[in-house]
Amino acid sequence: MLIYLGCCTVLAFGLALVLMQAGAAPAAVAHAAFALGAMPLIFAAMGHFVPVLTRSSGAGKAVHRLPLAMQLAGAMVVGVLAGALPGWTLHAAAVVGLVATGLFLAWQWQRGNKALGQPHPGLAWYKAALGCLILALLAIFVGLLWPAAYAPLRLAHLHLNTLGFIGLTAIGTLHVLMPTVLGQPDAQVAQRLRRQLPWALGGVAATAAAGVLPWLTPLGALLMGGVVLHTLVGWLKTHGWRRILGDGAAVPLFGAGVGLLAVIAAGMAHGFGLMPGRLAVSAFFALFLLPLVTGALSQLLPVWRFPGPMSPLREQMRARLVRLGQLRTALFLGGGGLLAMGVGAGAVLLAAGVLLFAVALASGLVLRR
Ligand code: HEM
Ligand code: HEM
Repeated sequence: MLIYLGCCTVLAFGLALVLMQAGAAPAAVAHAAFALGAMPLIFAAMGHFVPVLTRSSGAGKAVHRLPLAMQLAGAMVVGVLAGALPGWTLHAAAVVGLVATGLFLAWQWQRGNKALGQPHPGLAWYKAALGCLILALLAIFVGLLWPAAYAPLRLAHLHLNTLGFIGLTAIGTLHVLMPTVLGQPDAQVAQRLRRQLPWALGGVAATAAAGVLPWLTPLGALLMGGVVLHTLVGWLKTHGWRRILGDGAAVPLFGAGVGLLAVIAAGMAHGFGLMPGRLAVSAFFALFLLPLVTGALSQLLPVWRFPGPMSPLREQMRARLVRLGQLRTALFLGGGGLLAMGVGAGAVLLAAGVLLFAVALASGLVLRR
């Protein structure tokens, strides 16, 4: 399931770039990347990490299938927004998403309560992220039924989803993933996770509310930006430049952090009306999501493909996936920077980066026991 969804996500990112070039509605492009691509993969990855964080057995069959429900919901949204499916499908997608997310959150809650001792603090980030997704889906569902409130509810939906659902999942996971990638333990991880969560939640709440209360804009940007900056500085202190730059999975993960910081700066700018908000959507995809997902998959796919103790095959697959990680990161950040400045040709650099990763992925997947 994890390998299938990893591949589907890369295909969905490719689809988003094709839709972008074909001149499809920007909302269709955004949902190809975020709802069809990232959302189901996040569910599958959480399903893999929650048992680790709570020291419990692997997820059961029903929980394993929830990502497929999210994939269906994502496909329905893209279908409607691209004009291929009737409008009522959007309401159905929101309901499917809400039910599946509610079930998943209940499962995470139960695992946390049953954990031997205190669950790892990363679990609270996942529960908070799912809480944001539920609020975001409720917001758009109510907005669809109540046109007068559609505009502010749409803003709440998109900020809760990007910074809340994807952002909190990513930061919570990166704290644990970076030391694993570098093979160097970081004693500060649990403390950093505990300390940062209330600030991050405050940042998401202020940003989601800034659509109706514009004076919250600088507060939201400062809180979110502060958490990301704190994380980046912590990594540099613990691991150092050289180690990070030398690993083809660590570079994209660090690059995703830097990219998110840039997106938050763009958020401050568009919140004050200094640039179009839409540019932040492509920037979020290019500067943050692409390096994040390719970096995380470079580390995780070999573990998912060859589970159990470390093996030469797993090492070989990782080596193939991290090759050119630095170049891919440069393509994503460069292309994303151009898109954020309104230069459409930046998409070519993104396409090159995604293609490079797809080739690395294929060369890694042909390895057999
Ligand atoms: C079942 C799931 C979802 C449904 C039913 C849904 C529905 C919608 C709808 C109806 C809009 C307004 C489109 C418009 O005004 O043209 C919208 C906008 C948006 N949504 Fe979603 N969405 C879902 C999931 C997500 C997810 C998971 C994310 C990101 C993580 C996301 C991010 C956005 C963004 C960024 C926009 C603004 C796009 C733009 O105008 O360029 N959505 N969504
Ligand atoms: C901390 C960061 C952020 C802050 C403080 C922020 C703030 C705001 C505010 C106040 C508005 C309303 C502007 C208005 O009504 O004129 C807005 C709109 C918008 N924001 Fe953000 N935002 C942030 C991050 C993001 C991110 C990450 C994305 C994209 C994924 C995004 C996409 C948008 C979009 C598409 C609009 C609507 C523009 C439109 O309706 O055409 N924002 N933002």
